[in-house]
Amino acid sequence: MEKREVTLNINNEVHHLEIFPHETLREVLRERLGLTGTKAACDDGSCGACTVLLEGKPVRSCLLLAMEVEHQHITTIEGLADGEQLHPMQQSFVDHHAIQCGFCSPGMILTGVAAVENQQKPLSRDEIREAISGNLCRCTGYAKIIDAIEAVSKKQE
Ligand code: FES
Ligand code: FES
Repeated sequence: MEKREVTLNINNEVHHLEIFPHETLREVLRERLGLTGTKAACDDGSCGACTVLLEGKPVRSCLLLAMEVEHQHITTIEGLADGEQLHPMQQSFVDHHAIQCGFCSPGMILTGVAAVENQQKPLSRDEIREAISGNLCRCTGYAKIIDAIEAVSKKQE
C-alpha cells in the first residue's frame, strides 16, 4: 500500500506527513508525532483513553482515520497548558486529587474541557457523569474526577 500526504493541524501546529491510508489518528499522534499523552488502550472505541478534541468536540482517536481529519483542528493533552501554566481543568484535577495512575486523565481532562466550554450554566454532577460516561477509570471511583470538573464548571458562571 502506498503512503499518502496528509496535513494535520494539531495543537495549532501544522504537520505535513506521509502516512498509510489505514493509519488511525491515535497511531499518528503517538507513533509518528510522539504525542504520547494520548493513550492507547482498547483501540476499539470502548474506553475513552485516546480521547482528543476535534474542532472542540471529544472524539476517540482510535476510531478515526488520520486522513479523515485533515485540516481540522485537533487538540491533544499536550496542547492545553499555556507554557508552564496548566489549563484550569488540568490544575483542578491536580487540586482535587483526581489523578491516580493517570492513564485515563488526558481523555478525562479533554472531555471535561469540552463539557465546560459548551455549558449554558454550571453542570450538575449528573451532567458531568453523563459527559464522562464514555471515559473509563480503573482507579479513582470517579468522585474526585467529578469534583474537579464541577469546580471548573462553577467558576465559569
Ligand atoms: S483506546 Fe480508543 S477508546 Fe479505548
Ligand atoms: S487514574 Fe488510573 S485509570 Fe483513571
